[in-house]
Amino acid sequence: MQKIAYLDGAATKAPAAAVTAPDAAERIAAILRARQHQPGALLPILHDVQDALGFVPPDAVPAIARALNLSRAEVHGVISFYHHFRDRPAGRHVLQLCRAEACQAVGADALADHAQRELGCGWHQTSADGAITLEPVYCLGQCAVGPALMAGTELHGGVTPARLDALLSVLRQDDARQASDAATANDEVSR
Ligand code: FES
Repeated sequence: MQKIAYLDGAATKAPAAAVTAPDAAERIAAILRARQHQPGALLPILHDVQDALGFVPPDAVPAIARALNLSRAEVHGVISFYHHFRDRPAGRHVLQLCRAEACQAVGADALADHAQRELGCGWHQTSADGAITLEPVYCLGQCAVGPALMAGTELHGGVTPARLDALLSVLRQDDARQASDAATANDEVSR
């Protein structure tokens, strides 16, 4: 598998605190205060909320609608129109498979079938162990080296089913190592 590049920015994992972040409402309120008077504020607000929490919580929709003087249905419509936005927390890793034409021509459909079988989940769903969320994406700018995928912030090209399996294995080993490190740290604290 050709690893193309590491992109700058966020780590590959969804924020672990996303599900129960106690300050979620405050963070959303701060985003609204900063953005609500800007023209075309809805998309930037949704991006900011997802960046902050890992997803756009459904119970944030009324506050966003109120701040922008929109209906809840309008806000919900935009969230569901764009594949990028999630309405529930992602798994510890997000795997985005390119579904666009150039990748399809070199095996992206078979790769997608394999990924769904291997993870036991469909698009926008997370494997039962909570490790990996599978998302479609429409061109990663790597059309010459398809099929392409993005694992967290890391781009991969020339991905075959076997190479995907190897990548999944690395992600799971990484999880196991982190869980073991956390358990060791807890043991040391409780001694
Ligand atoms: S079509 Fe897949 S990266 Fe462009």
